[in-house]
Amino acid sequence: MNTNHSQIIRGDCLEVMAKLPSQSVDFICSDLPYNISGKGGTTYSTKHGFVPADFGEWDKWKSDEAYLEFVFQVCAEYRRLLKPNASAVLFLSYYKGGWIAYELERRGLFRFRSPIVFPKRNLKEVNLQRKLQAAFEYAVWLSNDRKSSEYGLRTFNCLHPTLMRNVMDYSLYSTSEPAIHPTQKPLEVIKRLVKIFSNPGDVVLDSFAGGGTTPLACLQTNRRYLAIEKDGRYFRKMKKRLENQERTQTVKPSTREPYVSPAANLISRMKRWGA
Ligand SMILES: C[S@@+](CC[C@H](N)C(=O)[O-])C[C@H]1O[C@@H](n2cnc3c(N)ncnc32)[C@H](O)[C@@H]1O
Repeated sequence: MNTNHSQIIRGDCLEVMAKLPSQSVDFICSDLPYNISGKGGTTYSTKHGFVPADFGEWDKWKSDEAYLEFVFQVCAEYRRLLKPNASAVLFLSYYKGGWIAYELERRGLFRFRSPIVFPKRNLKEVNLQRKLQAAFEYAVWLSNDRKSSEYGLRTFNCLHPTLMRNVMDYSLYSTSEPAIHPTQKPLEVIKRLVKIFSNPGDVVLDSFAGGGTTPLACLQTNRRYLAIEKDGRYFRKMKKRLENQERTQTVKPSTREPYVSPAANLISRMKRWGA
């Protein structure tokens, strides 16, 4: 299996990733299962209001230990697949995300660059008599190097300064595009991450693709994608979503955004700083 062209692949990500060549991916953007289903929490559904948080069997493990073992197995594959000094942004539960990133660094697998917090702007209010409502999503930014150099990253595109903070607005319940997955991420958020950490033509991997938000962001920004999804229902929905985009995308992706080389990007940043 090669990474020359965009692909959506149905299957277990550990099995699929094992067939991909080492150092063939420029950026990883994955929204991992949080292992929070069936544990007494609640979530808001646009159809049914507040319901017990149970997204499906894909989000359940026998124990936290089994879940963490799975996460570390996945991350070991990420390390093998990523090019040197490239980045990964992993959405994780805020209970465990920081610890997982710390542990990945301690095991010498990744460097923990920063957490990213996504405040949910248009959250529905719950009964707040006895709790603080969880009003944000959490991700960790990792890089595939162990040295502590701020400047050695493979790709880091500086967008407008207001878009470069590790607190990024997160708009729920988009009306322009109904959700096809219970934990679907907002397209604009994923597009911003893709633009910062990859260049047009690069290969972006999402090994937990769900409704296909990462590949859709890649299509709209002219990146190649590898999107893996185990569940047949979501796989079919993702396929349809991407086909719709390809049908309606009238401008050829290659003409949408000029390629800016990392060196040119650095020069324009230095000019902005007055260097
Ligand atoms: C949190 S959801 C991703 C949602 C996605 N970010 C979106 O915007 O639609 C995680 C997805 O990973 C899939 N999944 C879980 N375990 C998997 C595995 N071992 N291999 C591939 N996909 C898996 C689930 O079926 C689920 O659709």
